[in-house]
Amino acid sequence: MCLSNIPCVKMAEITNQCEDMKNLAILGSTGSIGRNTLEVVRNNPQKIRVRSLTGGKNWQLLAEQAVEFSPDFVAIADPAYETMLRHALAGKNITVASGEDAVIEAVTIAGVDTVVAAIVGAAGLKPVMEAIACRHQICLANKETLVVGGSLVMEAVKRAEVDLIPVDSEHSAIFQCLQASQNNPLRKIIITASGGPFRCMPAEQLAEVTVEQALKHPNWSMGGKITIDSASLMNKGLEVIEAHWLFDADYSQIEVIVHPQSIIHSLIEFSDGSVLAQLGWPDMKLPIQYALSWPKRWMPPQAALDMARVASMTFEPPRMNDFPCLQHAFDAGRAGGIMPCVLNAANEIAVREFMHKKISFVEIPALIGQTMKSFKNEPAATIDQLIEVDDRARRVAAELAGTIHE
Ligand SMILES: NC(=O)c1ccc[n+]([C@@H]2O[C@H](COP(=O)([O-])OP(=O)(O)OC[C@H]3O[C@@H](n4cnc5c(N)ncnc54)[C@H](OP(=O)(O)O)[C@@H]3O)[C@@H](O)[C@H]2O)c1
Repeated sequence: MCLSNIPCVKMAEITNQCEDMKNLAILGSTGSIGRNTLEVVRNNPQKIRVRSLTGGKNWQLLAEQAVEFSPDFVAIADPAYETMLRHALAGKNITVASGEDAVIEAVTIAGVDTVVAAIVGAAGLKPVMEAIACRHQICLANKETLVVGGSLVMEAVKRAEVDLIPVDSEHSAIFQCLQASQNNPLRKIIITASGGPFRCMPAEQLAEVTVEQALKHPNWSMGGKITIDSASLMNKGLEVIEAHWLFDADYSQIEVIVHPQSIIHSLIEFSDGSVLAQLGWPDMKLPIQYALSWPKRWMPPQAALDMARVASMTFEPPRMNDFPCLQHAFDAGRAGGIMPCVLNAANEIAVREFMHKKISFVEIPALIGQTMKSFKNEPAATIDQLIEVDDRARRVAAELAGTIHE
């Protein structure tokens, strides 16, 4: 229906009609993003075929997934579980392997053309580099890959001329808004944050919060590490660095705004002040599906957004002083070189120590800050150098964790 004399834009036809089949390698299929990806596959069997799957330790779920989706190859990162996996898949004509190299091999399996990178942490970096070398399309959930190796990853992406499509909901939102930009310059990227479970908690109570409280995200259902990162605002910090690399944005152009309802997934502002936003329920299936369907759109993976049910949307600035992880990430991002790699490694150790109840919630940013201070920055030159820095920063952070005080 035309409401004005502006010519009608024909509504896009959303169909499930045939198009080129995607042949997927899903790295981290046993995790939250991996399971949501397989749900998208279930809804689109005529569009997606699973060629390889990888897990970390959860061999039972990996075996169940392999039985359902019949990939050619499955890999479990922890070799301790290979025998169990092999037995569970006996007679299935599925190649089973284990170890870090086997996870990398999963992207090289014949027929794979698209990789969903959903391993958690810096462990995702090498498989993504291999996927780029194979010139596959990459649907990137694993933000740590860009935090650790941003400049080298982006150089490789450009050299290989591959599509790196964001899966993170904020970056998917920015990417979707950019489809309407007609290459006009942006003035700002505005990344929304839920604020996490402690958004309204007085600063003096943060030292007492428990792991169980930190794992209760108000809006999103996600893996453990990213849920703790969301509570500390480190997740937003990692996303700022991710946005810097994905969209070639200066840090001065990236703003974070807390939006507790998580309906607006992010916004872009053009040079004339006009702002575009992408909205949806907080559910990862849509950004995962869009990364797979881009530039097309498929049938909705969930109920449509109902603005009457949303009722109201609110916004507030992040509490940078009370949640220093966000500032640490801006500092590391601006410093560049190896510093984001150090930040990420220290954070992975800090989250692990917090989840094991060895350090308190407020000691997470303290440990990261101290680890960063003990490193002299240098340019990021090679992936091997970054892997060595990652390893060293983990050891420094683990040692400091024994002595850390807020
Ligand atoms: N969850 C979300 O909604 C969401 C949203 C945006 C972005 N992301 C990003 O997506 C990535 C995955 O997040 P997630 O929430 O899905 O995490 P998750 O539920 O913890 O899943 C992580 C996956 O990685 C595997 N894994 C863990 N360590 C590994 C290693 N060393 N080598 C190989 N595989 C390993 C796990 O295997 P096992 O479970 O078998 O051990 C699992 O399959 C993270 O980078 C996160 O920041 C997540």
